[in-house]
Amino acid sequence: MISIFKFAVVVFYLIAQMSVLAERDISVIFDKCSAQRKEPDNQYSSELPLCILTAMEILNNNGAVNKKNLEELLLLRYKNQTFVNNLIDLCAVEQPNPGETAYYVFYTCWITPYESLEDAKHMIAFLSCWYPKYKSSEKIKAAQNDIYKCFLEKINIMDKNGEVNKEAVLQIMKASENKKLTDAVIEGCVTKKENPLETANNIWKCINM
Ligand SMILES: *[C@@H]1O[C@H](CO)[C@@H](O)[C@H](O)[C@H]1NC(C)=O
Repeated sequence: MISIFKFAVVVFYLIAQMSVLAERDISVIFDKCSAQRKEPDNQYSSELPLCILTAMEILNNNGAVNKKNLEELLLLRYKNQTFVNNLIDLCAVEQPNPGETAYYVFYTCWITPYESLEDAKHMIAFLSCWYPKYKSSEKIKAAQNDIYKCFLEKINIMDKNGEVNKEAVLQIMKASENKKLTDAVIEGCVTKKENPLETANNIWKCINM
């Protein structure tokens, strides 16, 4: 259910979303910012998010989030005031500098589509573990178990000592509509491994089955 691949489809999603918004302005901003990119192949660069969000006045020039404008944009998609308010509390979190804030807000508030608030909590916890610590694909590969551990701790599936919250793992596995869940599979998924990193890696495989 939670997959790093979600992040790989962002550009396609963004383009699809623009026609839904039917706002020519956004499309113009996107084209202009894309054309200006100095590092077009670096998906971890904050230059595109920073350019787009600043032009849309979702980020002020000093790097602060303009929540009123963000709310307007998100209401176009979700059409649910309570959900949008809750989402903004989770996602409009300012980071150490405007570039990082732009990257974070771009992916957590806007580009990643959410089915529910629970879904949003998981995805945002994942992203906040994944970024800004690891800004290149090599580093991400090397740090994968670290990211899983950080994420699983954040959503209270595991504690710092690698103790597993079995009920929580089960809930997530059941929600993923996996039909092959036998008792043996479940037992394998909630077993504590040699160290917290390996336990996290094991749980991660299970919840992505
Ligand atoms: C709106 O969002 C809230 C919070 O996620 C949710 O509890 C509620 O059911 C939603 N309302 C509708 C009509 O979908």
